[in-house]
Amino acid sequence: MAEQHIPKNTHTTPPMRVKVKILRYNPETDKKPHWETYPVEAQPSDRVLDVLNYIKWYVEPSLTFRRSCGHGICGSDAMMIAGRNRLACKALLRDVVKDGGTLTIEPIRGLKVEKDLLTDMEPFFDAYKAIMPYFINESPPPAGERLQSPEQAERMAHSSNCILCACCTTSCPIFWVNGSYLGPAAIVQAHRFIFDSRDEATNQRLNIMNQNTGVWRCRTAYNCTEACPRDIPITTIIEEVKRAVMYQQS
Ligand code: SF4
Ligand code: F3S
Ligand code: FES
Repeated sequence: MAEQHIPKNTHTTPPMRVKVKILRYNPETDKKPHWETYPVEAQPSDRVLDVLNYIKWYVEPSLTFRRSCGHGICGSDAMMIAGRNRLACKALLRDVVKDGGTLTIEPIRGLKVEKDLLTDMEPFFDAYKAIMPYFINESPPPAGERLQSPEQAERMAHSSNCILCACCTTSCPIFWVNGSYLGPAAIVQAHRFIFDSRDEATNQRLNIMNQNTGVWRCRTAYNCTEACPRDIPITTIIEEVKRAVMYQQS
């Protein structure tokens, strides 16, 4: 019989014993999602992604979730962890559950669940595409680079940090009830180009933001700002775009 590989505990800190309660759904066999609980022993400094990998690799191979970089860069493992949207690869176990406690993990909300923690991201990326997320400048390029002053670069510094993880949009109550709202992530991306001094499509993007799927849907709920793993001041950014739209219209 093949030897089973069990990871050895080489840590000196005592492990935590927690119950990991995951909202599971298989469209081929389940009428609706249901909770399944897995007892796990792990280090307080382990990430939720490590715990999910352990369950998938050693306990329940059919558990389905998305992940790639493992280091908070690709934005692929957004999920609702302990009642709040977070990246599984950035959430440490000790920060989301007490020793002996129960940790709940659910898919992000407002998008169709394909299986377990895996959601259909197409509507999210359709909203991203709608804001024309690319540099537009028809002017002949200068001999060198298209330069910005430090002050000009600072205007788009926060919004250019977005990794398109969807933690913000899928924590927004307006998006939950009306999927046609482009959502905070798309507005952050629009901000990145609207406030780029080198871009020439400002008016086009402000017109998109002024449509009934744009910035005016935001009711300043702040969930998005609290959920952002990149600490982007999303609500402030949305307010800046609203002001830019009003300035354009005046
Ligand atoms: Fe994720 Fe923040 Fe970008 Fe929203 S603004 S998609 S939460 S990185
Ligand atoms: Fe939604 Fe954020 Fe506005 S949660 S309502 S987009 S402040
Ligand atoms: Fe890439 Fe978490 S796996 S951000």
